[in-house]
Amino acid sequence: MDINQKISEIGVVPVIKLSNPERDAAPLAKALCAGGVPVAEVTFRAAGADTAIRLMKETCPDMLVGAGTVLTREHVDKALAAGATFIVTPGFDPELVAYCQEKGIAIYPGCTTPTDYHAALKFGLKVLKFFPAEQSGGLSKIKAMSAPFPMFKVMPTGGISLKNLKEYISAPVICACGGSYMVTADLIENGKWDEITDLCKKSVEIVKEARNG
Ligand code: 3PG
Repeated sequence: MDINQKISEIGVVPVIKLSNPERDAAPLAKALCAGGVPVAEVTFRAAGADTAIRLMKETCPDMLVGAGTVLTREHVDKALAAGATFIVTPGFDPELVAYCQEKGIAIYPGCTTPTDYHAALKFGLKVLKFFPAEQSGGLSKIKAMSAPFPMFKVMPTGGISLKNLKEYISAPVICACGGSYMVTADLIENGKWDEITDLCKKSVEIVKEARNG
């Protein structure tokens, strides 16, 4: 099974910012896996994202741990050295896409316009991040975009929560939904690992319901 299929099967991707990776990365990885969500996008919005990626992989070796908010080649190099499984960028940077492809790591660039989709097509990409989803037109824009570009699946992030997850994930164009709602600063800073596991379980339940119903 390729990485796109694995992520699609899980259906949700926690978008994480860790201020204290040494303290929090391992328990967080365990909490996500216990909730049936063995995947994470660890963002470079906080220093030490590469440390967090390494510690999460060490704790749960089968987990898919990607790097998010990747803005530079240096970030890609750090993510690769830490053992990241995939790269996510907020926008479409052709140089970074080419660099990731050269390095052989999956990349999900942020795309929200027909122009972005055209650019992504040239690189043979199959799955795109759609960011920021709600603020860019939400599901109705994603559906409208899939008419001329039926070859892409998207991972929307930005404004997704337990309230609208079912609506998004029910659409066949959606590969998985990303979000920070199950890994908020409050939950992480206060070590609420059981709550994180619970939110993951609820998310997985919604994904199952949407796909079976
Ligand atoms: C991202 O980078 O994907 C988003 O910041 C996540 O958005 P959310 O915090 O609204 O879930």
